Amino acid sequence: MMQLKKGITIHNKLPERYDALSINSGTVYHTEQEAPPVNFQGLHYTPRYIDGAYVIKRDWRPLNGDEIRCLQANGQRTDYSTIYLGDIPEQLKDLFQSLSLNGAGNRDEVMEKLAASPEKTKALSEQINAFLQPLANQQPFKFHCIGINFPNIELVACNTTRLPAGYKPQDIRYMGMHNDGTRDMTIYTANKAGNRISINIGEESRSFLFVNLSMVQAINMLKKKIDIAEHNVNIANIGRFFFQYYPDYPVIKIRQKPYQYYIAPTDNCFHDGSTLGSSTLDVTMVYFGNFQY
Ligand SMILES: [Fe+2]
Repeated sequence: MMQLKKGITIHNKLPERYDALSINSGTVYHTEQEAPPVNFQGLHYTPRYIDGAYVIKRDWRPLNGDEIRCLQANGQRTDYSTIYLGDIPEQLKDLFQSLSLNGAGNRDEVMEKLAASPEKTKALSEQINAFLQPLANQQPFKFHCIGINFPNIELVACNTTRLPAGYKPQDIRYMGMHNDGTRDMTIYTANKAGNRISINIGEESRSFLFVNLSMVQAINMLKKKIDIAEHNVNIANIGRFFFQYYPDYPVIKIRQKPYQYYIAPTDNCFHDGSTLGSSTLDVTMVYFGNFQY
């Protein structure tokens, strides 16, 4: 594997500290590794990937001291080059727990449970706003979505907007490690797109996976391998080129227990989520903003 470069760093307030993190030896083309099957509430399928998708190798190990030091955010922290990790406030945790989203089998059931307690849902929204306000860097933030994923999906990201209504989960093509913003920005402006906070409000741990390099670092590394103009490398295809030419660059995995959050510049780094090993529905609450603290 390659050594980690100093790049995107982590401001870590998790009680588990760096025990929540692991590192692997890089990525492989999706056809090299079979995805684990999904088996949930009568649904059985093996996730499939889009052409060009790269997935994570499975040789996870704890980080060594040098790797931890490389990732630690010392000094300046920003919304585009720092990942923030922590627990949500206790009061907010209690409120989520009292909504008992546990046991939901799909998105509709999660939404029904929220709709069934309008007062609590309103209090929840107010308390989330109060929690986020001090992190928002005096800039607006907004609710983006409640994210729902099946259990035991190694890499959860997919674009279902182009699937016909009534599509089946087995029709989904997962995208593999990716950067989010592929419109309205370039490799050189991806650092101006802000970041997101994602709170795990499901029953089980999930993981956030990322490569600790900004888009500008990734393109600069690619320039050492190929003529980027000739290959027309852009914000939409940079991931494919990067993983093709740097398969040995490690991926970092962060375990996100229930009611823990991550804040990450998901337009500015390659990343994905994972529910591998879980057996219940994955539920996250996501806000967009320019969070930093
Ligand atoms: Fe993403």
